[in-house]
Amino acid sequence: MIIEPRMRGFICLTAHPDGCAQNVKNQIEYVKSKGAINGPKKVLVIGASTGFGLASRIAAAYGSGASTIGVFFEKAPSEGKTASPGWYNTAAFEKEAHAAGLYAKSINGDAFSKEIKEKTIELIKADLGQVDLVIYSLASPVRKHPDTEVLHRSTLKPIGGTYTNKTVDFHTGNVSEISIEQATEEDIANTVAVMGGEDWSMWIDALKAENLLAEGATTVAYSYIGPALTEPVYRKGTIGRAKDDLEATAFKIADKLKDIDGKAYVSVNKALVTQASSAIPVIPLYISLLYKVMKAEGVHEGTIEQIQRLYADRLYTGNAVPVDEKGRIRIDDWEMREDIQTKVAKLWEEATTETLPAIGDLPGYRADFLSLFGFEIDKVDYQKDAQEVVEIEGLV
Ligand code: NAD
Ligand code: NA
Repeated sequence: MIIEPRMRGFICLTAHPDGCAQNVKNQIEYVKSKGAINGPKKVLVIGASTGFGLASRIAAAYGSGASTIGVFFEKAPSEGKTASPGWYNTAAFEKEAHAAGLYAKSINGDAFSKEIKEKTIELIKADLGQVDLVIYSLASPVRKHPDTEVLHRSTLKPIGGTYTNKTVDFHTGNVSEISIEQATEEDIANTVAVMGGEDWSMWIDALKAENLLAEGATTVAYSYIGPALTEPVYRKGTIGRAKDDLEATAFKIADKLKDIDGKAYVSVNKALVTQASSAIPVIPLYISLLYKVMKAEGVHEGTIEQIQRLYADRLYTGNAVPVDEKGRIRIDDWEMREDIQTKVAKLWEEATTETLPAIGDLPGYRADFLSLFGFEIDKVDYQKDAQEVVEIEGLV
């Protein structure tokens, strides 16, 4: 079957198995090219199939030979439909890892549920005994609360007033003004319920109760800050409240892990094109300007470069983990560099439909977006029938 991208709004309905496999291979090659890290050995990644979570899994497996268990929520292929990208990514990762003699197993289901936590616990008990690193990298629009069964939906809204700014439709390049209505208290509470720290805490409690966290174990969740210009819709909006909660949760978890000398961190990562970030108004325009500036400065990174640096230069250096005044690891340091942000802010003022092709990196944005789904990847022959990937090797 020949598979082509089929767009609907901000999502792509199809995914290419060979393109996704090539993406995974490229990430593996990158990690290998950077050399060995004295890193984690037994790793649980929650949200392991795409984006930062996938990169965390690959960097652990190929940076320090780690055994990995990945948890995610992805769709298998079905009649007339391709699988979701994370399905193909994981199938490719498992295959590569097993061929390289690395332990890798995966669990597909709702990480917010008690059932999936129990399944994961059983697998760790049976196969690994304990884990020394737990990466929490979920990005989800909804969460069914395991105790109340209430379905919470997150929103991306400003707090305390309507927010108006520029945005771009990255398919057409059209720059326009967008106004987003302010959030209600309920919107805020729901977003915190989905993307805040409660579920991370529940995972760590469940693992610790079963003595599955090794002495000195580390857990890391991912956050974002970004510049003043996106603050109303991101860091000071509903999602920002959830990130505040996530960051506060790191301290609570760290307290609970003291008896095993465990550590809990939030790592603040760079803005990147993912399925989640493409849906946030204003952010795609910011990212297209940011990419242009960071590429020109030679400091652009993707998820794998970010996470390789997180392990090699922050978490596993053998020295104390460097953190900011709020206790957070910062791998958004290059994005937030003053010279970079000054340039982006200036370009922001200039950005219109007419100027954007010259001052922004829309082609880079689009290429990254398509590559999330396995399209327009070098070395992939899209004229050839795509391989069928109906199974993931290590799926439990
Ligand atoms: P992503 O959409 O690429 O990955 C999300 C992962 O969560 C996938 O593996 C998916 O299968 C899994 N998932 C979603 N719902 C699930 C559920 N109910 N049960 C099990 N698995 C589920 O997202 P991402 O951009 O890599 O985001 C990961 C984290 O990084 C988020 O906390 C995000 O806020 C943060 N972050 C993202 C950016 C960015 O620019 N993209 C920047 C900084 C921080
Ligand atoms: Na992820």
